[in-house]
Amino acid sequence: MKQLRIGQLLVIEQENGDSIYAQVENLHTDWHKDIRELNMPSAVPTKPALMQKLFIEQEILLKAVKVNRSGNLLAMRSIPLPGEAVRFASDDDIGQIYGPKDAEHIYIGEPLEMTSPVVMNVKKFVERSNGIFGKSGTGKSFLARIILSELIRSQKVATLIFDMHSEYGWESMSEQGHIKGLRQLFPQQVLIFTLDEDSSKGRGVQPDHVLKIAPEMITIDDIAILAEELDLSQAMLDAMEIIHKKEGKYWLRRISTLDPMDIRTQAEFYGVVEGSLQALYRKLNRIMSLPFLKEGEDTLSTLFMALESAKTIVLEFGHYNNLVSYMLVSNLITRHLHSRYVKATEKFINSRNIADKPVPLMIVVEEAHKFLQGRVARNTTFGTIAREMRKYSVTLLIIDQRPSSIDREVLSQLGTRIVAMLNDPDDIDAVFTGVSDRGMLKNWLSTLDTKKQVLLLGHAIPIPTVVRVRDYNEDFYKSMITDTDKGVKELFG
Ligand SMILES: Nc1ncnc2c1ncn2[C@@H]1O[C@H](COP(=O)(O)OP(=O)(O)OP(=O)(O)O)[C@@H](O)[C@H]1O
Ligand SMILES: [Mg+2]
Repeated sequence: MKQLRIGQLLVIEQENGDSIYAQVENLHTDWHKDIRELNMPSAVPTKPALMQKLFIEQEILLKAVKVNRSGNLLAMRSIPLPGEAVRFASDDDIGQIYGPKDAEHIYIGEPLEMTSPVVMNVKKFVERSNGIFGKSGTGKSFLARIILSELIRSQKVATLIFDMHSEYGWESMSEQGHIKGLRQLFPQQVLIFTLDEDSSKGRGVQPDHVLKIAPEMITIDDIAILAEELDLSQAMLDAMEIIHKKEGKYWLRRISTLDPMDIRTQAEFYGVVEGSLQALYRKLNRIMSLPFLKEGEDTLSTLFMALESAKTIVLEFGHYNNLVSYMLVSNLITRHLHSRYVKATEKFINSRNIADKPVPLMIVVEEAHKFLQGRVARNTTFGTIAREMRKYSVTLLIIDQRPSSIDREVLSQLGTRIVAMLNDPDDIDAVFTGVSDRGMLKNWLSTLDTKKQVLLLGHAIPIPTVVRVRDYNEDFYKSMITDTDKGVKELFG
């Protein structure tokens, strides 16, 4: 017999024939004992009157929502009324609550102990910035692959994945052996760009493009957000500013090609502190020696155009997966993309021509707190995107183990949150920033397994739900193949 548990979906059948979907908000740890004292069967009583007695006498709270046909939440109450029957939700009810498994929805998994799918609304998902949070090893990257696959299949959004650990594009290793990357599942829609051709080829990946960035594209803001990683003092930042004012777009080349024997004269010339200029010279040379920075060679426009035609791009960092390279490149590309989308959106607003409407873009970023910490969040384009939401059709999917390090304003703007197990109380607090029912949700979060279980809440899902995440395996790959997909042969021979 089924047992009652926290987060369980129940249906309250009203006398007028309507149904209310409800979830168990709390349970005493010893509710079984209470039931015995009440002389009730150890599992949930099936008779309406007994069920109601149980809920009232045991103060079991239900969070109830009535979902109407358009998916809107209509009512909230806590205890069934006399005469209303309460039953466990069936698989049919699940479809009513979440919606169908189709191209308009992202199929994530199932509610615990049930077999029908929990789905999120694609349109609502891409409208706002979203977050996947959880400790290391809880399945964030696997879940991101599932969500991205479903988004690619929906063909409603372009995605750019800053793939720090080169795990999304092509085959990678997991505890279960080899797993496929997005390019293998969707050869027509996914392109792999790499910053490190040797590393990609060494792993048997044939990248579509090797990304080169002209150093002139780097602004002082791009360097300023690396202050912590490069250990730049305020005096160095000031010196950078002064030289930038004088030299314009050649500021970086100018500093990095100073004569090391003559820094004193140069410091006097610019009116900056010699020691700061010396240190700046050293640190910026470290940047300039990154092999993907190439004078006069700029393949960024290829990347921008691919995104504007609704492709998904995985940018592999290969061996340049240190935070300095990752943050420099991700922030620079995102800044340029954002300004392109702002222009494109303004053009569309003026022309009102649907052909001018930009394809929504979702940017996926791991270690997101590095870009979205309090001070940094105010200065990076990532922070701007997270705050201004969907205005310009660009949103973020942030993946992070340490939500407590992320700026609270950014967290409170997130549309949909997908939360796997977290232990740190600060992280748990942070992840529910700006959400009502925090007490209840914290309770639910504490019941999650160590992996492959998540709590979904927010814009793209009608009610917060604990989900058993579907497996990312051979069956998943097969389910992604559509009749028209030419990838079938490549994948399965
Ligand atoms: N949906 C899934 N299907 C199959 N295996 C999974 C799934 N989710 C998690 N796993 C297993 O759990 C392991 C850890 O998952 P994953 O790499 O996604 O964790 P993570 O949260 O991204 O960790 P980190 O923060 O360290 O990057 C995987 O190697 C895989 O074996
Ligand atoms: Mg991961």
